[in-house]
Amino acid sequence: MKRHYLAAATLALGVMTGHQAAAQACAADVEDAFDLEEAAIAEIYDCISDRMVEAYTTEGNEVAAAYRDWAKTSTRPAVAGAHDNRLLFTFANDIAAEQYLKYAEDGVVMPAGSVLAKESITISTKNKEARVGPLFIMTKGEAGSAPETADWVYSAVQPNGKPMRIKQSFCHDCHVSWESRDMLGYPLEEVRLSN
Ligand code: HEC
Repeated sequence: MKRHYLAAATLALGVMTGHQAAAQACAADVEDAFDLEEAAIAEIYDCISDRMVEAYTTEGNEVAAAYRDWAKTSTRPAVAGAHDNRLLFTFANDIAAEQYLKYAEDGVVMPAGSVLAKESITISTKNKEARVGPLFIMTKGEAGSAPETADWVYSAVQPNGKPMRIKQSFCHDCHVSWESRDMLGYPLEEVRLSN
């Protein structure tokens, strides 16, 4: 009896997540994410843009509810390679924008309270579709608040709206390669928007 119930519950859950995933998918007919042309990216973003916010805000995440009103840092989403070849699009809050949009190379110190939120779109070359990927977030704390990560706190929201479990060191070990830029990777040069 109990097992039966469990199986039914699992099935219902499976159907629900399958449905959710389908609702978040858009066509992306490409062999390799790096081959996506500007027009194809525009088409994907047109299709998926509203679904992203819907997905990230499912559980009431505050950054998810706010970031679309922040400063865009690039002209469009682009594939940089890092973050699993996803299409990436970063937004900077009011505190972060002025300094971030300079894309300075040296001596960068982002003010406490800076938040960068980066949307991502996963391209499945197998299923020929684009799906909502995680929303990646970096938040700068007061000096001394997180000495091991240069006062940055890394976090991410999954496409189901729930916080992703991450290790600070996983994110920071890569971002630390931009130490002189206060750990910032910056968008690809050809899509950067500046002040
Ligand atoms: C293997 C290297 C690597 C790892 C690991 C990594 N990132 Fe990034 N990250 C990058 C690169 C490269 C960029 C800039 C590329 C772009 O956004 O177009 C970036 C950009 C970002 C940005 C936009 C701000 C900026 O740096 O310009 C955020 C926010 C971010 N990453 C969060 C995270 C979080 C959270 C994690 C851990 C879950 C993480 N990253 C793990 C390489 C990495």
